[in-house]
Amino acid sequence: MQEAIKELQELKEMHQAVIVAHNYQLEEVQQVADYVGDSFYLSKVAAKIQGKVIVFCGVRFMAETAKILAPDKEVLLPEIDAGCPLADMITADDLRKLKAENPGAPVICYINSSIEVKAESDVCCTSANALKVAAALPGKKLIFVPDGNLGDYVAKQLPDKEFVLWPGHCYTHAKIKPEDVLAARENHFDAKILIHPECDPAVVGLADFAGSTSQIMRYAETSDAAEFIIGTEMGVLYQMKAKQPEKKFYLLHSGLICPNMKKTRLSSVVAALKDNKYQITVDQAIAKQARRTLERMLELA
Ligand code: 13P
Ligand code: SF4
Repeated sequence: MQEAIKELQELKEMHQAVIVAHNYQLEEVQQVADYVGDSFYLSKVAAKIQGKVIVFCGVRFMAETAKILAPDKEVLLPEIDAGCPLADMITADDLRKLKAENPGAPVICYINSSIEVKAESDVCCTSANALKVAAALPGKKLIFVPDGNLGDYVAKQLPDKEFVLWPGHCYTHAKIKPEDVLAARENHFDAKILIHPECDPAVVGLADFAGSTSQIMRYAETSDAAEFIIGTEMGVLYQMKAKQPEKKFYLLHSGLICPNMKKTRLSSVVAALKDNKYQITVDQAIAKQARRTLERMLELA
């Protein structure tokens, strides 16, 4: 491991590379990253990053977002098959049909979406800022794609608006059932239950707090509680446990592992810089439209 870290350091200097990693990445990857965070933080980092190469340790839509926001950088995704099934649940054609059925309604796309869907949308959002973005949009009716659960979470907090939702969902977060939350409450009576809004609305409704991965981590850090039950992918636990060894963290469901996020290993990051792979390329015209959608999010949030 020490040898790989040393090699990576040399490669980073040689290529003027910056390593960014999502909170769900393996601990060995988070440890070598220059920036670690949620999707919103990482998109802000990408928009302002120094260096020539961004090695994006996450899934494809995240690396694509970095390329859209930093078009002059080379963006590498260490594992080419690291995708997000939720992002694949709607196509640009599906969205065009939805827009035709709801003329005039602005479209918010979750950042977990393809570049083509972003290009067809008016504004992007992440779980950290979805409510703020939706509240800032004019008009009564909004189209929200592709995560129906996040859309429902936002819609419930904006009762004056009418939401057209798409039935997309994340397989990993969908594993949590309300019974799991009720059982966890019974077993850890004093614990705070922190849930990602990609979970089923019935699960989110039972939480003490719902938020993005970084917001969940921040909640635990600033809370006086001693125990926390975590309803999101297990990758958030590495930092939480390391930063607060005196607190107890329990995962709400043993299946909270995103197989795509876990594809990237330290060896993949080294290989990415050694072999300059896998380069993210985007269609310039589509990227221009998608950039406008992402920049609106950065302005509103
Ligand atoms: P965050 O933006 O909360 O980090 O979430 C990204 C994601 O893919 C959640 O499954
Ligand atoms: Fe996509 Fe779900 Fe994995 Fe997040 S946890 S990257 S939404 S599959």
